[in-house]
Amino acid sequence: MSVARRYHTASTLANGYVLVVGGFAGASSLNSAELYNPSTGTWTTTGRMSIARGYATASTLANGLVLVAGGANETGYLNSAELYNPSTGTWATTGSMSITRYQHTTSTLANGSVLVAGGSNSAYLNSAELYDPSTGTWAITGSMNTARMYHTASTLANGSVLVAGGYNGVTYVNSAELYNPSTGAWTTTGSMSVTRMNHGASTLANGYVLVIGGVSTNGVYGNSTELYNPSTDTWTTTGSMSITRDYSTASTLANGLVLVAGGYNGASYLNSAELYNPSTGAWTSTATMSTFRAYHTASTLTNGKVLLTGGSDGGTLNSAELYQSI
Ligand SMILES: *[C@@H]1O[C@H](CO)[C@@H](O)[C@H](O)[C@H]1NC(C)=O
Ligand SMILES: *[C@@H]1O[C@H](CO)[C@@H](O)[C@H](O)[C@H]1NC(C)=O
Ligand SMILES: *[C@@H]1O[C@H](CO)[C@@H](O)[C@H](O)[C@H]1NC(C)=O
Ligand SMILES: *[C@@H]1O[C@H](CO)[C@@H](O)[C@H](O)[C@H]1NC(C)=O
Repeated sequence: MSVARRYHTASTLANGYVLVVGGFAGASSLNSAELYNPSTGTWTTTGRMSIARGYATASTLANGLVLVAGGANETGYLNSAELYNPSTGTWATTGSMSITRYQHTTSTLANGSVLVAGGSNSAYLNSAELYDPSTGTWAITGSMNTARMYHTASTLANGSVLVAGGYNGVTYVNSAELYNPSTGAWTTTGSMSVTRMNHGASTLANGYVLVIGGVSTNGVYGNSTELYNPSTDTWTTTGSMSITRDYSTASTLANGLVLVAGGYNGASYLNSAELYNPSTGAWTSTATMSTFRAYHTASTLTNGKVLLTGGSDGGTLNSAELYQSI
């Protein structure tokens, strides 16, 4: 990439390109954006956001635009949102959220609206809001039962959104809850066996959700993983990773395996990667990245490769690398 970045976003566009946006270089927030062309393996600079931000979220909408919302910069937390238009390479301001948020999650619902949940703006948030792409406006929806930041959000096959874990300002959380788009309400579901924040989550081909690692109560870094079964609303522990990780990425591959790459274990940035096999519940090591990375992004390309970008090895990285499964 032309710019080193961590805590940025990466979004796969309808044409297969990957849009990388914002983040921080060291302590400086970025408004720049760049595009990865998977056919040439090269990056080009594209339009800049009006506001520099990291810890934001990015959602590719059904109309092809990319919604970037919230986050933080040196001045403070943000409620503003901007839309990237891939045909013009430019940004336009759209409606702002009702409050500032960073370290929140976004999920695109089946009807095209985008659900934003939780995060923090120095207060810890349980509120949620919906962005309607047809009007460019936000509306408050039901609040979660628990405030959470550093949580995960995964869309289930039936359209509900599962949020799991995080930090509520007092304790690390093992609870999980479901957002039902037809009622706009949250319901508590089964709890994970372990509290986790900065963990990873990936939806499997069979509809289960795999959560991995993260930091648990008393700052313990985890190697444990568990599976959410949407038909029973319960979690079961599955195989442990070979090492503890937080801020790693988790990507479901076309072959059904889950690739977990990099992260941080409380002492070191990681370059190792491992694969979860849903049929055996076991992990195996796979090729190591060329660079130690946490706070990076992972995007599955239309050709099946996974693009890993930027992040931190202590400093801020501008390198990118591709994982190809065998
Ligand atoms: C940071 O966000 C504030 C809005 O809260 C904005 O006024 C300011 O321009 C942003 N900083 C940069 C460098 O974009
Ligand atoms: C999508 O569903 C949500 C949740 O029910 C609803 O509030 C919203 O208005 C719907 N959006 C559109 C664009 O129909
Ligand atoms: C989806 O499945 C979950 C888990 O069984 C259930 O609690 C939820 O109500 C379902 N959502 C919808 C929209 O049917
Ligand atoms: C995972 O961590 C636990 C302690 O937290 C340790 O006992 C166990 O050996 C580790 N498992 C692996 C596969 O490294």
